[in-house]
Amino acid sequence: MLSYRHAFHAGNFADVLKHVVLIEILAYLAQKEKPFCVIDTHAGGGKYALDSDFALKTREFDTGISRLWERDDLPQSVANYVELQKRFNQNGQFKTYAGSPLLIKQMLRAKDRLCLFELHSNEFEILKTNMKLDKRVQLDKADGLKHSLGLLPPVERRGLVLIDPSYEMKSDYSDVVKTLIQMHKRFATGTYALWYPVIERGRNETLENAFKKSGISNIQLFELGINADNSGRGMNASGMIIINPPWNLAATMETVLPWLANILGENGAGNFRVETLTTEK
Ligand SMILES: C[S@@+](CC[C@H](N)C(=O)[O-])C[C@H]1O[C@@H](n2cnc3c(N)ncnc32)[C@H](O)[C@@H]1O
Repeated sequence: MLSYRHAFHAGNFADVLKHVVLIEILAYLAQKEKPFCVIDTHAGGGKYALDSDFALKTREFDTGISRLWERDDLPQSVANYVELQKRFNQNGQFKTYAGSPLLIKQMLRAKDRLCLFELHSNEFEILKTNMKLDKRVQLDKADGLKHSLGLLPPVERRGLVLIDPSYEMKSDYSDVVKTLIQMHKRFATGTYALWYPVIERGRNETLENAFKKSGISNIQLFELGINADNSGRGMNASGMIIINPPWNLAATMETVLPWLANILGENGAGNFRVETLTTEK
């Protein structure tokens, strides 16, 4: 039984990191003429009203996008992300937060493709409405971890798989590693982006060790925290584990993450990590 609704969390500090990294990877893929394919295994609803009861209940967007919206000193990759979000908000108003499916769609060219999976019935209906008809986009109401395997390797032989689970079950932490190992066997040159939360650091250490032992080379980790570990405030940090990242992503994140940690950190507790889990062969 799935109970997670991303509408409570849209635009929070975790979405900022996830979507900044996502846009960087897509911009890199779009530098080459050849088409690419993106698979989003946990799509969510596509976009979220920031004045909805869901969003206003916790105002999580105040830990993230709200703090960036009006600034004129954003690092380039954060500016690109805010600029994309502003396309969904006319006349400078700040009412809509675009999730991964709409951000990716904005960055597709005519020849690129997007495959979206969403398992939650309500969320899937919202997603269908938000994506509208587009021959480049395929939607499946199915388990994205299981069913995306069958799409690999994509015919384009270039692309990104975004894996953004809600981690409602502890087994999610081990399932994502198992799935990524299988995916990588089928499509070793693809880029993979896995989002993770930091709630109990021990789980993250287990996750990272599993990747170190996975036999997959060229894995980097980018993490942004707004509170210290064990602050007692729930999710203190979150990160992205990237297999086959663009060559310049680590350098970009080395500049962007300290800036975000400073702006988004609670009472000076912002923190970040840029780490290589496994090196390039
Ligand atoms: C964190 S949200 C996705 C947010 C979205 N990727 C974004 O960045 O805007 C996770 C979504 O995955 C859905 N979900 C959970 N388990 C799933 C599964 N096995 N396959 C597909 N979707 C799943 C949930 O219903 C939820 O909408």
